[in-house]
Amino acid sequence: MSKVSSSTLIKFKQEGKKITALTAYDASFAGAFDNEGIDVLLVGDSMGMVLQGHSDTLPVTVDDIAYHTACVRRGIARSLLIADMPFMSYATAEQTLTNATTLMQAGANMVKVEGGEWLLESVEMLTQRGIPVCAHLGLTPQSVHVFGGFKIQGRDSENAQRIMNEAKAMQQAGAQLLVLECIPAALATSISQELTIPVIGIGAGNGTDGQILVMHDVLGISSGYIPRFSKNYLSQTGDIRSAIKAYIEEVQQGLFPSDEHTFN
Ligand code: KIV
Ligand code: NA
Repeated sequence: MSKVSSSTLIKFKQEGKKITALTAYDASFAGAFDNEGIDVLLVGDSMGMVLQGHSDTLPVTVDDIAYHTACVRRGIARSLLIADMPFMSYATAEQTLTNATTLMQAGANMVKVEGGEWLLESVEMLTQRGIPVCAHLGLTPQSVHVFGGFKIQGRDSENAQRIMNEAKAMQQAGAQLLVLECIPAALATSISQELTIPVIGIGAGNGTDGQILVMHDVLGISSGYIPRFSKNYLSQTGDIRSAIKAYIEEVQQGLFPSDEHTFN
């Protein structure tokens, strides 16, 4: 199977083939996910919570992400590998370039950044210099303290319109992929229809071009709170490879997310 690139993902979108994505943090799990045919793997700063046991993503460092990106890279053959730029690692232009370089050199194919309007120049700067960018809008967990909690975003029409405008501006600035997290399904659907770049949702309903989940939620081993939009595939299958296979199939067939995993 040939490697997944950003052009593969655009082609999937044009053909109406759903993109499947998961987080991964090490070579063994990443290798198994890759083997089952996952399209995109993200070394997420969710590692602050699921690996490091913090209550949010803010303590994660560039070195943490680089280390796990290098681990995942060694385990995979086909998937597109995205690395999260952690909290405050892209606050200035200079930091952005230095830290994105570190993650690309650790083995990432693309970096992901959280935020709207203020980030447009950085997205353009990175893209022009050869670093593909995935934008991330909606509930951006690095801003949890500004939001006052992990809350669904874009519920009122003013904020919905802002997110739509930011999504279009991100595409215009050169972003090649967009993650939408925890927004109403109708908004995520119209953003996906308006944009030519692929849109991957988490807690954003069934109308996006693909889905991503945190692997610990899929395997039912996240401690404490399990988000409503998530689904434990291990409990229904009994082994890890079959769980991942079931997730991939349900996303491709449009069965996941169903209504119970969606905000309306
Ligand atoms: O860090 C992460 O795992 C993420 C996904 C939930 C999109 O950003
Ligand atoms: Na993240």
